Amino acid sequence: MTRRRIAILISGRGSNMVSLIEAACCPDYPAEIALVLSNRPDAGGLERARASGIEALAIDHKAYSTRESFEQALDAALRERDIDFICLAGFMRVLTPWFVERWAGRMVNIHPSLLPLFRGTHTHQRALEEGVLVHGCTVHFVVPELDAGPIVAQAVVPVVPGDTDHMLAARVLAQEHVLYPQALRMICDGRARLEGGRVVFAEGWSAEGSLRSPG
Ligand code: GRF
Repeated sequence: MTRRRIAILISGRGSNMVSLIEAACCPDYPAEIALVLSNRPDAGGLERARASGIEALAIDHKAYSTRESFEQALDAALRERDIDFICLAGFMRVLTPWFVERWAGRMVNIHPSLLPLFRGTHTHQRALEEGVLVHGCTVHFVVPELDAGPIVAQAVVPVVPGDTDHMLAARVLAQEHVLYPQALRMICDGRARLEGGRVVFAEGWSAEGSLRSPG
């Protein structure tokens, strides 16, 4: 098995990064985490990555006068290390079409909502304001449009009466930590692949169950 070389791009604490690093420790996981990259030198995730023996690099976007020159530095660092595939995990910089096209089909993101609902920020608070009864997270391929792109996997959680945005965020985050490693595994072992702008799955689905909220 050839393991795909993954770079995880972060800006913060990196809890999704940790879940990917832990999954990739398993010898049968089809990917290895070769690099963690942050646009913020103070991102807590950098130390967490180093503690796991992974190269962790800060490329401070503030040191670059344009978005393009920052992204060229990112791209060069990724290519120098023969990175095959990028996982965005709480990376808080909008990427230009140039960068996205360069990594088209080789970059995924995790977003804390059931896309296409609640693109952008403050997703949990907005879900509560709208009164939805289920919420969740999505792993999707990255396209130039923000929080759009072919969906690889989603996980659903109930919204519980009395929830605060913090409570709901914690419930979603627990699912993110399961979903992201599963989705990356499916992409890297070929069970989920891009075809004509959609994700197709090598294995069929059984459609027996349904999720209802309230239960
Ligand atoms: C997660 O909620 C993720 O869905 C979003 O940013 C957050 C990152 O959290 N894109 P962490 O840094 O992985 O803990």
